[in-house]
Parts: sequence; C-alpha cells; structure tokens
Amino acid sequence: MSKNTITFTNNSTGETYEYNILDASRGPSVVDIRTFFKDTGMFTYDPGYTSTASCESHITFIDGGKGELRYRSFPIEALATNNSYLETCFLLLNSRLPTKDELTDFDLEIRHRAFLHEGLRHLFNALPDNAHPMATLSAAVTALSTFFNDHLDMDHEAEYQEMARRIISKIPTIAAFAYRHSLGIPFIQPDIELSFTENFLTMMRAYPGGKMRLTPNGHESIKDVEIRALDTIFTLHADHEQNASTTVVRNVASTGAHPYVAISSGIAALWGRAHGGANESVIAQLEMIGSVENVEKYIAKAKDPNDPFRLMGFGHRVYKNFDPRAKILKGLQDELKAELDLDSKLMSIAGKIEEIALNDEYFVSRNLYPNIDFYTGIILAALQIPKSMFTPIFVIGRTVGWITQWIEFKQDKTSKIARPRQLYTGD
Ligand code: CMC
Repeated sequence: MSKNTITFTNNSTGETYEYNILDASRGPSVVDIRTFFKDTGMFTYDPGYTSTASCESHITFIDGGKGELRYRSFPIEALATNNSYLETCFLLLNSRLPTKDELTDFDLEIRHRAFLHEGLRHLFNALPDNAHPMATLSAAVTALSTFFNDHLDMDHEAEYQEMARRIISKIPTIAAFAYRHSLGIPFIQPDIELSFTENFLTMMRAYPGGKMRLTPNGHESIKDVEIRALDTIFTLHADHEQNASTTVVRNVASTGAHPYVAISSGIAALWGRAHGGANESVIAQLEMIGSVENVEKYIAKAKDPNDPFRLMGFGHRVYKNFDPRAKILKGLQDELKAELDLDSKLMSIAGKIEEIALNDEYFVSRNLYPNIDFYTGIILAALQIPKSMFTPIFVIGRTVGWITQWIEFKQDKTSKIARPRQLYTGD
C-alpha cells in the first residue's frame, strides 16, 4: 500500500527525510514540515508565502483555478443572492445560518451595540480633520481596546462571541465618524430603528439631527436598491481565508494581544494598494486615464517591465481564472445601471480596459483578470460614497472574517507565536 508521505533527498549528502502529507477536505494537501529544521538544520524559503499553508482552518475555502469561494461550505453566489450580510456574519461566527428568531436577536443586538463611548468620540478631535479615514479607523479601533477588557476568555464561547458582535456592530459607526471627521462635519449617531446597512448609509449621508436631504417633496430617502447593493458588497468582503490582512490579524493574535488591536493591525495591512486599498486606486486610476482614447497608452505602461505602473483592480494571488466576487459585482453593476446614476464615463473607460486586457497576451499569459476591486468603485461611487471611504467599506465587511479567524486561532491547540526565520546574506 502506498504511504501518504513525501521524501526529500539532500543531493549533496544523500540523506533522505520523510514527511507526512496531510489531506485537505477540499483543495490541495499539505506537506507537514513542522520538524524540518530539527531534522535537517535548514529552513524552507518561501517569500510571500506562495507555497505555504500557515494554519489549519474550516472557515473559508477558495479554489483559485475554478473561481470558487465558499464561507463555511456555502457558495458565495448563493449567499450574495439569498442572504443578508448579517446572516453571513452569523454563519461565519456560528458555522450555520441563523433561524428566523436567531436572526432577529442577532440583528437587535447589533443595532443596540452600535453607539460609541463618549470618551472614544473625543479621540477623533485629536486627529487632523484631513486625516485619511483608514488611519482614523485604525487608531479608533486600537483605542476601542482600552474600553473593553472583558469577553476575552477563550474557554467560554459566550464571552468571545459577545466580543465579536460588539466590534462588528461598532465598526460602521467608527468608519462613518472617521469620514465625517475628515470633512469637519458633525457626527450622526446610530439609529436603532435602522438596519445595519441603512444605518451606515445614514450616518454617512444625513444632515445634523439625522435627517436626510430636504427636497421640495420632503426628505430624500435611501433607496432599497442602494441598501441591497451595499449589503451585497459587505457580504462579498466578509472573509477571504489567509490573505495579507488576515495573516496579520492571526500573527498579532499569536502574541496574545487584545483582539481589537489585532483588528486594528488588519486595518493597517488592508490599507495598502496591493490589498484593500486597490478599490480607491482603481477609481483614482480611471479618473487619471480620463478618456477611452487614453486606455491603450496606459495598458502599454502596465505591460512595460521598466515602468512601475500597474493596472489597479487586475490580478490576484489566488484567483487564476476569474474572481467569483468580481463576477457577482459585474452582474450587480448591470442591474444597477437602470436604477442608479452610475458614472457612464468611468464605466466606458473601465469597459475598454477590460476588453483590451482580457484579450491581450501579457494579461492572459499571466492570468491577470479583473478582481473584486475593479467593480466595487463604480458601484460605491453611485451610492455617493467618496473614494476615501472605499477601503473603510472593505473593513466593515471584513471585520467579521478577521474576528472569526482570531477566534479560530485562539481555539487551535496547535497554534504558536508566528516567528518565521530568514536566509541571512549580510556580512
Ligand atoms: N498590472 C500589470 N501587471 C501585473 C499586475 C497588474 N495589476 N499584477 C501582476 N502583474 C504582473 C507582474 O508584473 C508579474 O509580471 P512578470 O511575471 O513579468 O514579472 C506577474 O504579473 C505576476 O505578478 P506578481 O506581483 O508576482 O503576483 P502576486 O500574486 O504577487 O500579486 C497582486 C498579486 C494582487 C498584488 C497583483 O496582481 C497586483 O499588484 N494587482 C494590482 C493591485 C490590486 O488590484 N490588488 C487587489 C487584489 S484583490 C483584493 C484583495 O483581496 O485584497
């Protein structure tokens, strides 16, 4: 009978080393090299972790070749179509969808926890009012840890679930306050009458007193289609297995720091253009390109190995065929075209880039396809959300994923402090 092991041979000494292969329930198996250094005196070398599984997980599964994404085994397409963001949060935290009563309780608790301590409100005044909302958001989430030192007992599920629900609930308020602070306009308090997503849009858009814009026909209302679109965007961002920011969250968790500090570190990691910051950069890039006639020039720059210019919203470390989240958003974009004021100029520039890149040998041979960030910007702009808030929107959606991964890390008896080694080439 064949053994489920792999043997490495050191060709300079002839020594062989045998390692177990651990089979995944879906996707690639892994070679268990935990004793490799002890056995061989050598480290493995894998910058960017392109071949490294850093943990065992049962939260999210991605098959990059097939363009498949599942949360707790549920395909993303089904969740985005049939379930709300809050149902998705419950699913990630509890490994199953809620019953009707459970959803009502979960929703009410999230509404009731959305306000911020007055002390935390003062933090915003200490920061310059032109601060980027991502910086303010990260600072405020770190500050949040100073207000909550309970619900950290990993032996009691009720404790850490409460801690998780609290951060999910407060993040939209912090994000909206960060935005309003960046404009120097008064904060709008959360309203328990409103759903998670409508509440966030209201805290962003409302006039002092929590009222929406006044028109000759009365107060403007937030359209159902807008709430549905943003809710879907939150669901599509809810988790994405061991990406850069989640890895940061787990690494901070491994040191024993407070979970909200781990999330604040995740926010900092997400801000970069190669990760969540790409959504802001996509729109900035489309605006810079300026017209369909200029697209070819910028495609040529993206292909030039001596030019650092990259097409924002293209390429992905894991998806090498298509990003299923991008496919859903493209569908949503077409649906919204009729109902919302989508920027037709930016859409035609984006359409031209897509058309050229999808047929160009450079992009095809490197498996570079539009990713989630390519499509979110145009939809978010139609929801009157300014560019600087695109990545904070990603944060709102992703917080549940980070906290679920933090809990999984803490429950994993094999987890250790993250401490990689190096190939030293200095003097
Ligand atoms: N435009 C032009 N060329 C590109 C691009 C791009 N957007 N992305 C990758 N390449 C080229 C790259 O130059 C390299 O070419 P060569 O083999 O000739 O050196 C090849 O494709 C492989 O690139 P890589 O940087 O080794 O790939 P990676 O897996 O390390 O990086 C990525 C993935 C997403 C960081 C990268 O594709 C990128 O910078 N994309 C633009 C930023 C972006 O849209 N980020 C959002 C990712 S999705 C949201 C999220 O999950 O955070």
